[in-house]
Amino acid sequence: MMLVVGLLLTGSMYAAFAPAQAESTDTQAADVEAGRELFLIGCAFCHGQNGEGQYTVNGDQIGPSLVGVGAAAVDFQVGTGRMPMAQPGQQAPRKPESYSDEETAQLAAYVASLAPGPGIPDESDYSLEGLTAEEQEAAIVRGGQIFLTNCTACHNFEGAGGAMPRGGYAPTLRGVEPKYIYEAMLTGPQAMDSFSNGNITPDEKRDVIAYLGSLEESPQYGGFGLGGLGPVAEGLFAWVVGIGALVGFAIWIAAHTTRSSKKKVSA
Ligand code: HEC
Ligand code: HEC
Repeated sequence: MMLVVGLLLTGSMYAAFAPAQAESTDTQAADVEAGRELFLIGCAFCHGQNGEGQYTVNGDQIGPSLVGVGAAAVDFQVGTGRMPMAQPGQQAPRKPESYSDEETAQLAAYVASLAPGPGIPDESDYSLEGLTAEEQEAAIVRGGQIFLTNCTACHNFEGAGGAMPRGGYAPTLRGVEPKYIYEAMLTGPQAMDSFSNGNITPDEKRDVIAYLGSLEESPQYGGFGLGGLGPVAEGLFAWVVGIGALVGFAIWIAAHTTRSSKKKVSA
């Protein structure tokens, strides 16, 4: 009796769950296949037929290997329009994207199928939803501290960006979507370090994103922000306007001293 019930149970359980699973692996396989087609047309020229990387005859790299970079790297690079790179160059700039969201997901599925790598973060990973106002406030403060220690060296203390060695630059972080901030930390594009979840935990990543979001909302205090570019712009401003005013004043004094007026009298 037990045996019959057991068999019946496993049988019906299988019937209930198996088709659903089969279906999802089917769509996954279809995504990978569609992604492979797109990849062969748009990316293989630089990244190799199987994403293994491509080199010129003298051994210069045309495109790096994408084995193990994960879906997150593809979603970031293609979603921000950096890839497909228009021509080999110093740095792939952000530009309007060339693929639809669906095609981007297919490309990501294909690259993720090459080897395990970081996946695309979910909105629940970086939204502050469900936290109280105080917790959100605390998250922003923590995020600011993490940003200060890990990111300001390249991105400037206001996230305005800055120059990098060898002609590169760290872009401004103003207006960058939370998902891409998360993915940039996770995958470390180009000259940027990558911050794995062991290095900056998912919660800390969320806090950094909250901090950057708060910068977008904060008003500019004290008149001109000078582009928020930090010491260089501010120093230049002091030189041009400050020293300029002093020079002007010195000339004015020189023209109004007793000596210069005496000269006029004697002449
Ligand atoms: C003109 C050549 C070229 C084309 C076309 C191109 N890439 Fe790239 N790709 C590069 C180069 C070069 C880099 C390395 C950029 C760097 O690090 O400075 C790169 C980097 C990447 C990275 C980041 C790898 C990492 O380590 O994080 C991903 C992901 C990527 N490409 C995906 C794609 C996809 C997907 C396509 C097709 C839609 C594509 N690329 C088309 C040249 C190209
Ligand atoms: C070593 C210097 C360096 C550090 C440290 C660094 N970055 Fe970057 N970051 C860069 C560079 C360079 C790029 C441009 C990469 C590219 O164009 O593909 C970049 C790109 C980005 C982007 C993409 C912006 C866009 O326009 O799409 C984001 C977001 C980002 N960084 C966030 C961060 C955060 C958050 C931290 C700290 C946890 C950080 N970065 C630390 C150098 C750095």
